[in-house]
Amino acid sequence: MNNTIRILEKEFVTFISYIEIEKVVDRLACQLNNDFRNDEVLFIGILNGSFMFIADLFKRLNIKCRITFLKLASYLGTESTGKVQTLIGINEDIRGKIVVVIEDIVDSGVTLEKIIEQLVPYEPAMIKIVTLLLKPGAYKKKIKLDYVGMEIPDNFIVGYGLDYDGFGRNYEDIYVVKQ
Ligand code: HPA
Ligand code: MG
Repeated sequence: MNNTIRILEKEFVTFISYIEIEKVVDRLACQLNNDFRNDEVLFIGILNGSFMFIADLFKRLNIKCRITFLKLASYLGTESTGKVQTLIGINEDIRGKIVVVIEDIVDSGVTLEKIIEQLVPYEPAMIKIVTLLLKPGAYKKKIKLDYVGMEIPDNFIVGYGLDYDGFGRNYEDIYVVKQ
């Protein structure tokens, strides 16, 4: 079903339904449960955009794991500013730990690079990355993305936690901006 919503001055149309999202989350959780079945994992959820994905993914995990959160922001409206601000940092001891970063979307990779830069000095045993979405057309960095849910075109999206100027996070489906 193609549904149109308005957020601030922009119109968006249904792009990925929650039914599809759940299938992708199931697959990612299966991979993590398998790959880390004998390990203890510290997940680091990246706020704000990932909060719905984090909740859906985390409740599907059956491995020994903990979670903490890092809050960053780089977007202003629909444009990436290229400048990433840390709003809440890490206060967990991650030295020697297996760390898995949970991202909603990897776009240019600027935010992701900043996250990795913040974690590396604490010398975790490894850092893996899981992202629900990737925009390959926008990704400019070399950092390996270990678990990618879906690749999408380089168009602005909202819903399922993702925002346009703070709004639109509440929709369970993902919407793309109308051209
Ligand atoms: N929408 C919302 N937030 C984002 C996006 C997007 O398309 N890309 C990176 N952050
Ligand atoms: Mg945002």
